[in-house]
Amino acid sequence: MDGRELVRAARVFTMVRGPRAMRSAWRRWRAEARASLPRGAERARVPGPVVDAEPLPGGGVVRFARSELLVRVASSGTVFWSWDGAAPRPSYALAGDPPEPDARAALEPDKDGGWRVVSERVTVAVSRNGAVEVRTPGGVVLRRDLPPRWWEPVAGGPARWVQRSEVPADARFFGLGGRASGPRLREGTYRLWNTDPRGSFGPDDDPLYITMPVQLVVADAGTHLAFHDNTWDGRVTLREGGEGEGSGHDRPGLSEVRMSGGPLRCWVVVGTPARVLRGWTALTGAPALPPAWALGPQHARWGFGSEHEVRRVVAGYRERGLPLSALHLDIDHYDGHRVFTVDRKRFPDLPGLARELRAAGVRLVSIVDPAVKVEPGGPVYRGGRAAGAFVRDARGREVRGVVWPGECVYPDFTDPAVRRWWGGLYEERLAQGFSGVWHDMNEPVSFTPFGDMTLPRSARHALEGRGGDHREAHNVYGLAMAGAGYEGLRRLRPDERPFLFSRSGWAGMQRYGGTWSGDVSTGWPGLRASLSLVLGLGLCGVPYSGPDVGGFDGSPSPELFLRWFQLGAWLPLFRTHAAIDAGRREPWEFGPEVLEHARAALAGRERLRPYFVTLAHLARLTGAPYARPVWWGAPEDRALRDCEDAFLLGDALLVAPVLARGADRRAVRLPRGRWYDTVTGSAYEGPGQVLVDAPLSRIPVLARAGAVIPVRGEDGAEELEVWAPAPGRTGGGVVVRDVGDGWERAEIERYTTRLVDGAVRVERVTDEGVVAVAARVRVRGLDAG
Ligand code: NOJ
Repeated sequence: MDGRELVRAARVFTMVRGPRAMRSAWRRWRAEARASLPRGAERARVPGPVVDAEPLPGGGVVRFARSELLVRVASSGTVFWSWDGAAPRPSYALAGDPPEPDARAALEPDKDGGWRVVSERVTVAVSRNGAVEVRTPGGVVLRRDLPPRWWEPVAGGPARWVQRSEVPADARFFGLGGRASGPRLREGTYRLWNTDPRGSFGPDDDPLYITMPVQLVVADAGTHLAFHDNTWDGRVTLREGGEGEGSGHDRPGLSEVRMSGGPLRCWVVVGTPARVLRGWTALTGAPALPPAWALGPQHARWGFGSEHEVRRVVAGYRERGLPLSALHLDIDHYDGHRVFTVDRKRFPDLPGLARELRAAGVRLVSIVDPAVKVEPGGPVYRGGRAAGAFVRDARGREVRGVVWPGECVYPDFTDPAVRRWWGGLYEERLAQGFSGVWHDMNEPVSFTPFGDMTLPRSARHALEGRGGDHREAHNVYGLAMAGAGYEGLRRLRPDERPFLFSRSGWAGMQRYGGTWSGDVSTGWPGLRASLSLVLGLGLCGVPYSGPDVGGFDGSPSPELFLRWFQLGAWLPLFRTHAAIDAGRREPWEFGPEVLEHARAALAGRERLRPYFVTLAHLARLTGAPYARPVWWGAPEDRALRDCEDAFLLGDALLVAPVLARGADRRAVRLPRGRWYDTVTGSAYEGPGQVLVDAPLSRIPVLARAGAVIPVRGEDGAEELEVWAPAPGRTGGGVVVRDVGDGWERAEIERYTTRLVDGAVRVERVTDEGVVAVAARVRVRGLDAG
């Protein structure tokens, strides 16, 4: 244990009734010790030489001396391969049936005794010793997966395996879920085990709450995503490659995936970044569309503590003319920290409060923790017991842990019947007047002063009827809880889209909602980590997220708070939040100057709400995250690949937050084309780097020439802000309007822009041809210097 871990252990120990956590840790350790078999002898295995092959639609099976490889290419170009007969299903990641195989493609003999599948979008080549290469149609290698190696316990049990893969020397890695040190994942080992980092975290802390075996790899040759569909504990070691200066020998980039059990099967999606995310979300599910109010400013705190305080804070916003869309209640509004209860002394009339706030345009969102207090008289505990809902050990006894209410049990969300039971409990939250839910502590957490703060690995889970233990279920616990909550809310309020975001999750969690940073530490490194998390998760298919603005713990300096607020205002989930013992986070608590600048950031967000609505729809339709790395449209630009301090908001805007203390200017790396500073109107030409002003009053935001951005005009009506195309160029954009909080399909409006005789012409293009633009248009950038 290093010093930092020691401090954390002490914190958990004192925070959560020390002796109880200690006892629970001891019990957990004993359970593990009892259940863990000595590893004993293991047999190592590699596939061996190729024996024969059997073509099937989209690919086929290649048999080796000691294993077999299934390869299947879908008509979309998505590749699936697996060893030892692993099928695409069962899978927690996949949203529906696996994509149809490409009937025109099948295995054919390749040179040197290998086999290959040639399809329109991708070629897969299998070498005679079991290496799998994914190539572009032009034959350029995107990824070479070397023959895997398994270690099988002689006495039975899951086989560990390792697979090394090579990527081009110039490739950059992204993804692996939510990582604080990115978004570009540098050399190092990243664990695949969803983890509460014990208090607040910074860029050096890994793993965090959401891990995913999803790598997004960007190289000159193309972009691809590789997903090892395996929920077990694992480690991914990455090493970026290098180009052999003068020697002509490039050193490839390396990925080594090591899993402690589970199938060896992989999906590979290739194409432009936009195509890759489209393919990935076609596979794992369209991102849930948040209701429009969830795109507005939100405020939370652990420890509002009473209705009175909630009213005071909401009034604080109102009196200062600051917009507020939602207020989140943390565990302190529960009765004794018990989920699905209300402390009636402090919150005597929550439904009344919710109605009152709703009338003032403010929704209430409730935290929901998975752990249920052990109390024979408690209705949730009683109901869960009767339903056989709680995780048990191999001897059939409930597995107990310690969370905020004390001794707790854990619903087994990998059981469909338990998900249904749990989903029904949200009725109580709806009756209290809540409009959305915030899932927390679902890694799941059981406090211990040392060791792994979760359930024992030997704990049993239903795993959809297959049966298994926590080693396999751990990483999908939060995902399955999100499924339970989402489906429950859909059943209870069929006419409204659920609003849900969850601290833990796994590949596919976007089907149910978004996430947030978790307990990001207050400090400039935490601010940087916030951006890393949002961008990395977006590339894993989870587009809706945002940080605890201001950081979770302590007290940010006024400057840090403001810079965080200014970044948050441009991210999908824009929410201030902090710990019970942290300083205030209301924008007026940092002095008049910060208040005025925060007011401007809020006004900017409100103005841009129609654009956020458009981005939310586009994320659902295409998988493209709202906040994208600056290389999104130009992955071939190597300088952009290494740029981590700015992002694109949709296609139209480039946001360059201030991430360092004392800065009032900053360098901004521009993708190709013309970009306008949205405040000064100055025009810059990319690609290249420019220095722009970043006074305390704002962060630089640039608009792409030719862009069409739906905004809320000064009178509240929607208008189109159109940025002049550069001479000789055209532009355009897509607008999707808010269709309310239900399920109605929204219409997609397409616009083109061009210069005609020095004026900007905007046209709306439909299947029937060009039609009149109904909205008010405001042209900008024509007089740019
Ligand atoms: C941990 C969460 O990450 C944090 O946001 C929340 O305030 C606390 N749990 C208390 O519920």
